Amino acid sequence: MRHLSKVVLRPLAAGLALATVGMVAVHAEDAKKADATPDPALANQLNPADKAELDEKLLAKDAAVKVEDGKYTDAAGAPTFHITNNGKKVDWYTYSGYRRYHAECHVCHGPDGMGSTYAPALKDSLKTLSYEEFVGIVVGGKQDVNSSTQKVMPAFGDNKNVTCYMDDLYVYLKARASGALGRVRPGDKEEKPEAARKQEKECLGG
Ligand code: HEC
Repeated sequence: MRHLSKVVLRPLAAGLALATVGMVAVHAEDAKKADATPDPALANQLNPADKAELDEKLLAKDAAVKVEDGKYTDAAGAPTFHITNNGKKVDWYTYSGYRRYHAECHVCHGPDGMGSTYAPALKDSLKTLSYEEFVGIVVGGKQDVNSSTQKVMPAFGDNKNVTCYMDDLYVYLKARASGALGRVRPGDKEEKPEAARKQEKECLGG
């Protein structure tokens, strides 16, 4: 079983990388169109009281230019968050990412992406890491070879509880990085999209 899952999952990592490249190309076109007609339904409506941590430049860069079945994408074609109702409501993927993060990552990276003595604050890392870099590190792991303390980011490439929710983790952490989402458990959320249901079933079952 163990052997089989390794064989099946190699192509998954390669597929992820390929899918990402294709997506960027397609969405560059969409971004042009979206620039011409900004859609107010895609705008974030944040909690005015949460201004302290807000990085306006990042927030503008992360702005959604497109939504397809509950999945928001930015001008570069990467998945992004959508926050409404004065910061009280998040898109499905941000909510799901919050839950996955606190199941798989927070033991090392601290609650709410705040970091720990062992691992960096991902709310800061995601200010600069691209989607591709993020996926690469999470799938393949990372080791600080210069550190005398041997800090290791494990490779999660064969953990479906992580790989099947890569975009979810990414958008949640992007929302933390720009300050759009504070140190809160997201309350209200958009309905779980049919595409998320389908992708989850295929990913976990395959
Ligand atoms: C066993 C502890 C541990 C767990 C669990 C863990 N990480 Fe890490 N992670 C680390 C360490 C340590 C580093 C720093 C490695 C280095 O500097 O080379 C790191 C680095 C990273 C980086 C690169 C950050 C940067 O600034 O370069 C990303 C992205 C990341 N982790 C994402 C995740 C995600 C997402 C999860 C959950 C799916 C996760 N990690 C779970 C220990 C962990």
